[in-house]
Amino acid sequence: MSENKSEALANLSNETRRFDPPAELAESANVKADAYDRASEDREAFWAEAAERLDWGRKWDQVLDWSNPPFAKWFVGGTLNAAVNCVDRHVDAGNGDKVAIHWVGEPADDTRDITYAELKDEVSKAANALTELGVEKGDRVAIYLPMLPETVIAMLACARIGAIHTVVFGGFSSDALASRVTDCDAKVIITSDGGYRRGAPSSLKPAVDEAIEKLGEDSPVQKVLVVRRTGQDVEWNDDLDVWWHDAVDGQSTEHEAEMHDSEHPLYVMYTSGTTGKPKGILHTTGGYLTGTAYTHWSVFDLKDDDVYWCTADVGWVTGHSYLVYGPLANGATQVMYEGTPDAPHKGRWWEIVQQYGVTIFYTAPTAIRTFMKWGDEIPAEYDLTSIRVLGSVGEPINPEAYVWYRSTIGGDKAPVVDTWWQTETGQIMISPLPGVTSGKPGSAMKPLPGIVADVVDDDANSVPDGSGGYLVLREPWPAMLRTLWGDDQRFKDTYWSRWPGLYFAGDGAKKDDDGDIWVLGRVDDVMNVSGHRLSTTEIESALVSHPKVAEAAVVGAADETTGQAVCAFVILKESATDDEGTADDELIQELRQHVAKQIGAIARPRQVMIVPELPKTRSGKIMRRLLKDVAEHRDVGDVTTLADSTVMDLIKDKEGSGSSSED
Ligand code: WTA
Repeated sequence: MSENKSEALANLSNETRRFDPPAELAESANVKADAYDRASEDREAFWAEAAERLDWGRKWDQVLDWSNPPFAKWFVGGTLNAAVNCVDRHVDAGNGDKVAIHWVGEPADDTRDITYAELKDEVSKAANALTELGVEKGDRVAIYLPMLPETVIAMLACARIGAIHTVVFGGFSSDALASRVTDCDAKVIITSDGGYRRGAPSSLKPAVDEAIEKLGEDSPVQKVLVVRRTGQDVEWNDDLDVWWHDAVDGQSTEHEAEMHDSEHPLYVMYTSGTTGKPKGILHTTGGYLTGTAYTHWSVFDLKDDDVYWCTADVGWVTGHSYLVYGPLANGATQVMYEGTPDAPHKGRWWEIVQQYGVTIFYTAPTAIRTFMKWGDEIPAEYDLTSIRVLGSVGEPINPEAYVWYRSTIGGDKAPVVDTWWQTETGQIMISPLPGVTSGKPGSAMKPLPGIVADVVDDDANSVPDGSGGYLVLREPWPAMLRTLWGDDQRFKDTYWSRWPGLYFAGDGAKKDDDGDIWVLGRVDDVMNVSGHRLSTTEIESALVSHPKVAEAAVVGAADETTGQAVCAFVILKESATDDEGTADDELIQELRQHVAKQIGAIARPRQVMIVPELPKTRSGKIMRRLLKDVAEHRDVGDVTTLADSTVMDLIKDKEGSGSSSED
């Protein structure tokens, strides 16, 4: 375990603060303590009850088929339509006038309130348009859009007709888009001319054009549907491009929805793994919707009159499960915001909370730490008293950030639910229940009812309370990934091969003396930057693809705001260095930019250090642990397993000589 983790382990034993649920919330909570017992008595019956919260075309014959692990089937034989569950049924129940989405654009006063009835019309029209464009059940549709109502509408329209969407985060580069489009063979891309970011329109369509050009004759894309958001000029290809408003606006609002099989694929979400190639996580319909709807209702204690706001981008799994499918399946009213937290001023989020009376607020520790840095006086200017539950997701929340969040944003009363889950799990797995759990700052506490998580040692033995190890899941759960798109073997190897019968999440964790779980972060070569997963290998490959780079090693170094930051150590080709073997700052900037171009701005290294050698073991494995020491400005640890023990001296010399850049 790294020094960081040992430090975290030592710290948590000193944490004695406890926050009980507010009495009123406990009294009226959707889920009370008995749920844990009921679920452990009969897990399948528990999840079947959760599935009853949805509308089914045909009820299932079997709750779970786990006869061919690790390939699970949930609610076997059942049929349903995700879009009908997220939209139509609320209208049918008489809630058509309820606001589904308070959409807030970044430019001031650019807002749109969309009721469930309006959403139903829009989704139906978009479904008709997709069908007219030739999209059929089972086809893949890539969605590359900013945070617009059309993004949600497009996802639901795909779900409605049984097309499989793959949303690509708008901050990703054209290369990243191209590789995802190829991997899942997407027939259509839905995008926009651009979006607003920090007060200015920024373009998106050119990246799509570039991706398609790059794919050339191999491009599977037959149509590009373009939402007009900013009105900026775009290049137009009459064979491919279609305006969203031309294709959708004239369509009928009637659309007969087919009931799809419970295991029909709903979407593919690409995420970083330990190798360079992103993994296409496949989620299916019945189990996923059951898992997300139930956890959204239980973990946030959702009530009819709540105003919920999840700040995640739809391009990540949090946006899928807790902005689109969970909340809409529950008929919630929510806020969706297009822009950044500091546009046009640093109080924008709190202004929105005040304006819409947000009651449940879900964000990431990196955002919380940023607000802490900006100062208490900013949120103090707004009325945040409507907030009654706060959520955190994406990375471990440090106790200080938790306590600040609870007191400054939550008025010292709102419980904080620290929710642990992953793209792969689809649904929240470990979290306090706000009406039941006495919260500990920094701990995700216990697996939710119906979830069996554990912390094990190298031999898969459950560790005793007070010890650390690897976080695993012992039993299948409804929203679990079904496989990796087109790669069953990689699915088995990645998650199920370390210990037979256990799903290994890739995280380290500790059980405290009460048996509560503290997630410590990744134990593999996956970094967590601002709550976003990046693979060290993926960034290394991007660096090595630069003509001047011979070799690269990337580590995630501790960063006060982003949790971890990308730090790269690069060996240049001889032709790229001057006589002294140094490189200029310009090249370093070029390398940082190169990574941003290859993957996306979030992957741009905070720091690039040009070094003469990399520390390697005798078998040639790069010792990232030592590089991490350098990046975190620590004394370098044990070097005895290095093939050449002088290498670290050379690297440390370089650190002092200015061949690095940090901003
Ligand atoms: C980390 C995001 C500690 C963890 C939903 C996990 C967390 C990875 C927490 C998944 C949390 C997420 N406490 N760590 N509450 N939530 N993580 O796939 O390392 O983008 O494996 O899903 O984020 O990231 P992903």
